[in-house]
Amino acid sequence: MPGSDDYREPHHQHGSTDALEVALTDDVLVVHGGTPLEGRIRVRGAKNLVSKAMVAALLGDSPSRLFDVPKIRDVEVVRGLLGLHGVKVTDGAEDGELVFDPANVESASTDQINVHAGSSRIPILFCGPLLHRLGHAFIPDLGGCHIGPRPIDFHLQALREFGATVEKTPEGLHLSAPNGLHGTKFALPYPSVGATEQVLLTAVMAEGVTELRNAAVEPEIIDLICILQKMGAIIKVHTDRVIEIQGVPKLHGYTHRPIPDRIEAASWAAAALATRGHVEVLGAQQADMMTFLNIFRSVGGEYEVTDARPPKLGDAGQEGGIRFWHPGGELNAVALETDVHPGFMTDWQQPLVVALTQARGLSIVHETVYEQRLGYTEALNSMGANIQVYRDCLGGTPCRFGRRNFKHSAVIAGPSKLHAADLVIPDLRAGFSHLIAALAAEGTSRVYGVDLINRGYEDFEAKLADLGAHVERP
Ligand code: EPZ
Repeated sequence: MPGSDDYREPHHQHGSTDALEVALTDDVLVVHGGTPLEGRIRVRGAKNLVSKAMVAALLGDSPSRLFDVPKIRDVEVVRGLLGLHGVKVTDGAEDGELVFDPANVESASTDQINVHAGSSRIPILFCGPLLHRLGHAFIPDLGGCHIGPRPIDFHLQALREFGATVEKTPEGLHLSAPNGLHGTKFALPYPSVGATEQVLLTAVMAEGVTELRNAAVEPEIIDLICILQKMGAIIKVHTDRVIEIQGVPKLHGYTHRPIPDRIEAASWAAAALATRGHVEVLGAQQADMMTFLNIFRSVGGEYEVTDARPPKLGDAGQEGGIRFWHPGGELNAVALETDVHPGFMTDWQQPLVVALTQARGLSIVHETVYEQRLGYTEALNSMGANIQVYRDCLGGTPCRFGRRNFKHSAVIAGPSKLHAADLVIPDLRAGFSHLIAALAAEGTSRVYGVDLINRGYEDFEAKLADLGAHVERP
């Protein structure tokens, strides 16, 4: 890893030769587009909570139990890393239930850990728990989606504030805490989700009180706080993004059913809208999706929320969810800006933009969370969309990328008739947007590199089949 906290990951361009070489194997889905998606699917625990909940199990002195865990690649990566560190991970009795036994936490060799290098960003969150359990930690080179530089400077700065020493070597990060970890007062330069989780997972067992200002307060973070509280932690969420954590000497295991995946739910909602279909997403929760629902309605999509009804004698109960559909007629252009919670999530942006190509007029999307998250629009343009990207902060408040030469605003002129194309998936959410575009387009598209979608969307091919999509593996 380079000798600066401002660590930059290699950036794979959409359609670059290496991506194409990898993709032009058998990892391709043939999509016969033009059929509305119709039917019902279910989302399970949120990817961006479940993976962190798994790391939290390392902090307990007794087993933890997590329900509704989706079968996705990120979960496998964390499971592998936990296993290497002596945490016994077994499948529970219920489908999607995992049990973690941290009785024998131990060091793993850097070679073993490095097998997971480049596969996910979650390993960085092992720092605090491993420092507490072992006094040292090795973190491999990170992975995750290539949607901008994605530095880890906030994480490392926070860990040093707690008293950790961080040594960077070409193979990864070596951390130790010779004098233990101590509570600290710390303000994040930006409300980063990962850095907030880093502070939470470290502060809960650090000696004394930690005060984190400018924290992220995404629902996944609040759910992680609930888990830590179940384990015995003392955490107060104050107004104005201030979180106060009182360190405790020990934590025990938890039992938890995570919040559902609001990114996956919104992705299927966008797919329903773009294909002029009708999709019911069981498990989707209104409270966590309010901002998305407002935009969905402004674009012209319809939805209906069904509240869950618990089972009673003689009544099997009912699972809650949200039904999303295209009501016919034209969609409306909108202006939106991605932001930290409670703003419009950056991960909702790419799937929705496909639907915006079908709206009459000029839609504006200002991406303020990641500086390079609009590259995928080139692929949509190759299918007939009319999307221009700009360096200016369009349609909203000036953001930190405006002066830094990043193309982070998009103007989508519609409606455009989409036609089939050969596409290479560049990252997880953009990949799903490629898939939606292929489903909405007339003709047969070939989508290469679709396996990447398994990182965050459980059984997406089975769900596509349930929704009547005409897709096949060649
Ligand atoms: C999480 O990433 C999610 N990943 C992302 O989802 C999501 O897009 C993002 O939060 C924002 O909601 C997981 O939870 C695994 P950040 P994270 O730290 O924590 C900058 C998906 O597809 N930053 O909130 O890595 C950073 O560059 C993924 O599911 C620093 O500058 O995101 C970005 O511009 C993609 N230095 C901004 O903060 C740091 O040390 C927000 O990033 C850390 C972050």
